Amino acid sequence: MRKKVTIVGAGQVGATAAQRIFERGYADVVLVDIIEGLPQGKALDILQSGPVVGSDVSIVGTNKYEDTAGSDVVVITSGVARKPGMSRDDLLFTNLDIVGAVTKETVKHSPKAVLIIVTNPLDAMCQHAYQVSGLPRERVIGQSGVLDTARFRTFLAQQLGVSPRDVQAYVLGGHGDTMVPLVRYTTVGGVPVADLVPKETLERIVKRTRDGGAEIVALLKTGSAYYAPSAGVAEMVDSIILDQHRILPCAAYLDGEYGIRGLYVGVPTRLGTGGIEEIIQIKLTAEEHAMLQKSADAVQELVNVMRKGRPKAA
Ligand code: LAC
Repeated sequence: MRKKVTIVGAGQVGATAAQRIFERGYADVVLVDIIEGLPQGKALDILQSGPVVGSDVSIVGTNKYEDTAGSDVVVITSGVARKPGMSRDDLLFTNLDIVGAVTKETVKHSPKAVLIIVTNPLDAMCQHAYQVSGLPRERVIGQSGVLDTARFRTFLAQQLGVSPRDVQAYVLGGHGDTMVPLVRYTTVGGVPVADLVPKETLERIVKRTRDGGAEIVALLKTGSAYYAPSAGVAEMVDSIILDQHRILPCAAYLDGEYGIRGLYVGVPTRLGTGGIEEIIQIKLTAEEHAMLQKSADAVQELVNVMRKGRPKAA
């Protein structure tokens, strides 16, 4: 029987992820959203591209969670997107309610699924989905590191005039202003990037990576990025559904790894059928570790705000 992937949220990230996964052709896709007609219309449109793009899997749009039953992977994209001037954290309470509700619904119908969380603020949403779902930590994973790393690799490739495929890099930490692009583990065709790019240029690229989401929001004005985020989702889904054991940076619940406990933070993971097979602990210098800890502290702060609950209107 074919594998089944559910995408919750038929907005830009969700629909684009659905399209990318449909085009892979290895799993049937369900696109679910509360807005009547939206997931149905987008799914039908994607389905009709099948003969042209050469995909013979099915894709259906629905407003009913019953239709998502038995999914192997569930990608949660629902929520409000950032508007210009809005930080990822401003979204916190609105998206907490949404992500909590859809997590409950999807887990009820697909108790064996691996959940990939995409909604912002990412790390806090992962924490919430993990708690609400009751699933083991291997099966609740956040997409942010693949996106942040892809941005870092793109800018470096542009700078050096090489293929982005030959740039290997890791971006760790939370998906926010404190994310940690690991320059020391970044290589271009196997050569350490610090040997190829002057320090100031590297610092500029690191900053542009950290501000990568905001740069797109400022340009689009009415929404946030979705092509690269959905590509990140699809790469994670590939590794899980096809049991590829890829090493990808993901938001994972740490239980002592990197000296952090009880918190979602972006770290390198190995992804296979069951979700996270391993949290890979790379050696960090004291300075890198301090940056990761600072990023974890920022996530913790948000989680504390989340636990206190929505402030009462004045
Ligand atoms: C970004 C937003 C969506 O990084 O978090 O593009």
